[in-house]
Amino acid sequence: MRAEKTGGSPEEIRERMEQANLMVDILSNIIEFRNGESGSHVRQIRQLTELLLERLGEETDRYALDQSDILRISLAAAIHDIGKIAVPNEILNKYGRLTEVEFSVMKDHTLIGADMVRELPLDQEEPLVRTAYEICRWHHERYDGSGYPDGLGGEEIPISAQVVGLADVYSTMTTDRVYQKARSHEEVMELILSGKCGAFNPLLLKCLETIEGRILEEQGQ
Ligand SMILES: [Fe+2]
Ligand SMILES: [Fe+2]
Repeated sequence: MRAEKTGGSPEEIRERMEQANLMVDILSNIIEFRNGESGSHVRQIRQLTELLLERLGEETDRYALDQSDILRISLAAAIHDIGKIAVPNEILNKYGRLTEVEFSVMKDHTLIGADMVRELPLDQEEPLVRTAYEICRWHHERYDGSGYPDGLGGEEIPISAQVVGLADVYSTMTTDRVYQKARSHEEVMELILSGKCGAFNPLLLKCLETIEGRILEEQGQ
């Protein structure tokens, strides 16, 4: 997928990018189907990740994000929950609270997803592969170190995983689940910004607030 490796005219490169996007769409639909998620979750995460990263790039140059980083991270965001395909259906789509044991099986989707990426017969140093690994493994880490699986805190969490983690929480709470009805945009914003959904990078929360109008626009509101 790396253009400089394969070369070609701008049209050929664009066509390859479109095909790669299409394959990711197909793959994410399969993941969503297996995870019992409503159709729009992965698409929304990709969009929100892109909006947040663009805003973050305007806010600071701390993370040195260029356009290709933004595209790569939002593309890889689509497979953040790939490890869930190894979680039993009774746990994945359980109606009601998970027991402690069930929750620990559920948490393992992060490690399983990261292993799946690691075992791919691909160059692990390839930026897209590295980013996919970071996102799968660390999208449930939280800024104060209270997340899982590794309890990373602050900037120990790669920025890719920080952004996808925030986009995931927003999207999960605003879409219908077997175990929970969708909440309104306003309610979810309030819960996230007040820290009730776990701690996030304050700079990212600021970005989320700033792009609120764009989010509503994307949702057609
Ligand atoms: Fe997840
Ligand atoms: Fe998710």
